[in-house]
Amino acid sequence: MFEGASWLLHLLFFTTKYISFIVFSISLNMYNSRIAGLGHYVPENVVTNDDLSKLMDTNDEWITERTGIKERRVIQKDSGEGTATMGVKAAEMALKRAEISKDDIDLVIFATLSPDLYFPGSGVLLQDLMGMGTCPALDIRNQCSGFIYGLSVADQFIKTGMYKNVLLVGSEYHSGGMDFTTRGRTVSVIFGDGAGAAVLTREEDTTKGIQSTHLYSEGKYAEELAIIGPSTKRWIPEIVSDYDEDDMRYHPYMNGQLVFKNAVVRFSEVILEALQKNGKTNSDIDLFIPHQANLRIAQFVQKKFHLRDDQVYNNIMRYGNTTAASIPIALSEAWGEGKIKPYDTVLLAAFGSGFTWGSALIHW
Ligand code: UT7
Repeated sequence: MFEGASWLLHLLFFTTKYISFIVFSISLNMYNSRIAGLGHYVPENVVTNDDLSKLMDTNDEWITERTGIKERRVIQKDSGEGTATMGVKAAEMALKRAEISKDDIDLVIFATLSPDLYFPGSGVLLQDLMGMGTCPALDIRNQCSGFIYGLSVADQFIKTGMYKNVLLVGSEYHSGGMDFTTRGRTVSVIFGDGAGAAVLTREEDTTKGIQSTHLYSEGKYAEELAIIGPSTKRWIPEIVSDYDEDDMRYHPYMNGQLVFKNAVVRFSEVILEALQKNGKTNSDIDLFIPHQANLRIAQFVQKKFHLRDDQVYNNIMRYGNTTAASIPIALSEAWGEGKIKPYDTVLLAAFGSGFTWGSALIHW
């Protein structure tokens, strides 16, 4: 009889434990976040490869063959446009499409490597320009993977229930810092200006929205793709006292081949991880949007994962590499063209300076 009672007690104990574990797990993940609206903005000024060949020793054939880029957008000097103002335009479009008021945004996340000021970040500038009261604003400094890092941060805030609506912006004003002479041609032909934005909102159906994000970094390569000049390593008195216009540290430096080699490996790893985590294979992907770094990288990844052309979206031909803005611009355009439909599986992946890289898998 005692043996029976002890068995019952054990059963009761383990059942209670199991139920509380389930309740705890559910309470930890009550919500998902989903993208409710997307927007983008690029400056009107189009600069073609032929335009660049008038400034430096380059040509359309080299740029097209090595990168896939045909043209990029460049802010007109004295136009008053900048990183924050472009972000505002992208954000307004995203809010309108999401049918969410700026007053209902609980958090602004701004991803950029080209902030308007050394500090504070462009997030607070955007918040002020949009008249968003006192909602918190934070900047993300993760370059090409800034949008994916931002997506992950927004997702965590929404999943825990702390915030309901998050405005995530990626915006870059590259052209102001580029060396448009032959000396800087390896870098300056690649990058373009522009902004993209997403409004993330709470989703109670956890089969929808962001299913997982995967983030990585490898700081030993920090200076392989970087701008060293104006920084605390080279503080203002030093810059002023021995300014030398031939000093390439004032412009972005990129060890192109090393970045390329690492990119194809890390892209592949992080895509595979996102698929495995969600029990999916390449044929489940409705749309893959890689960070628009170089068409050759995107094509390598497409081939490796046996993806059809209609499963991959690229727009680097028209905008060049817009770093943190590249994925949201592409997402916004793809959505606008009807290429993303409800319940689609959308995969995002990025790699860049830091090195940092990441992926996100979304059920639309
Ligand atoms: O988004 C951030 C992550 N960034 C990336 O993922 C970029 C990864 N890297 C790349 O996309 C490529 O390395 C580049 C497109 C940047 C460069 O292509 P590459 O095939 O690696 O060229 P390279 O740097 O090895 O240069 C090959 C040749 C050189 O001439 P020599 O030494 O062979 O005579 C360069 O001087 O091409 C020359 N070159 C150019 N020629 C015409 C470099 N830039 C140019 C140019 N126009 N713009």
